[in-house]
Amino acid sequence: MTPDPISLPEEFASSLALARERLGVIAHRVLWYPEVGSTNDVACAMAERKVDEGLVVIADRQTAGRGRLGRSWASPVGAGIYASVVLRPSPTVATLLTIAAGVAVAEGIVAATGLSAHVKWPNDVHVSGRKLAGILAEGAVSHVVLGIGINVQPAAYPADVAVRATSIESELGRPVDRGLVLAECLAALASRYRELQDGRGRFVVDAWRKRAAPMLGRRVEWEAAGETQTGLAENIDDDGALIVKVNAGTLRIRSGEVRWL
Ligand code: BTN
Repeated sequence: MTPDPISLPEEFASSLALARERLGVIAHRVLWYPEVGSTNDVACAMAERKVDEGLVVIADRQTAGRGRLGRSWASPVGAGIYASVVLRPSPTVATLLTIAAGVAVAEGIVAATGLSAHVKWPNDVHVSGRKLAGILAEGAVSHVVLGIGINVQPAAYPADVAVRATSIESELGRPVDRGLVLAECLAALASRYRELQDGRGRFVVDAWRKRAAPMLGRRVEWEAAGETQTGLAENIDDDGALIVKVNAGTLRIRSGEVRWL
């Protein structure tokens, strides 16, 4: 059972208040928990109960943080940003929402820290070639929950995570304000969400392509029909699917596991 939320720490409250005018529909209501299983579970339950879109659920620690493809997401206390946003997109907007979320989190990290952040399909955020943030989009017909995980401190991550991951503070070599990072990510998300709603998805796709430039042209592999296939990641199409060059031409990968080699 999820405990009652408590009042938002000043670290987050002041930055979100300062960003208020740029947050659009997002963060009109924010729930803070010292500890939950997964903020996505809390947000999904609230979304089922018809909460207005824009609700943000934040936790200082997750005991059952989830990543994409059934993986877990290490969520040590105070070491990261663990936040979930409830949105209610139209089907057209939903098509590009996870791509938009990846772009927005990269943009928010750049705005708050000055780091050079790239996106890796579909929506991982990388700095210096290592993963710094990820997004887990879950939903039903009536809503999408965007779960945002950002590594802030170089915590004691499991060994397999530690070799592939980095954190904002280890890249910068100084402490950062988690509230500022989250506020900038949510402001960027509000802006990209508005673009999708206004029929300007093209801008989102173009922004993704620019932020993915170092990744494009790289070899990827995936499983299909019981076999490992490989190809070169060329681009994304206007619906956010990954276009991969293979011997026989090009393939369009809409979802599922793609390993970057
Ligand atoms: C990924 O695998 O890259 C996605 C990671 C998403 C982690 C975030 S942390 C907040 C939210 N709650 C979860 O349980 N997962 C997401």
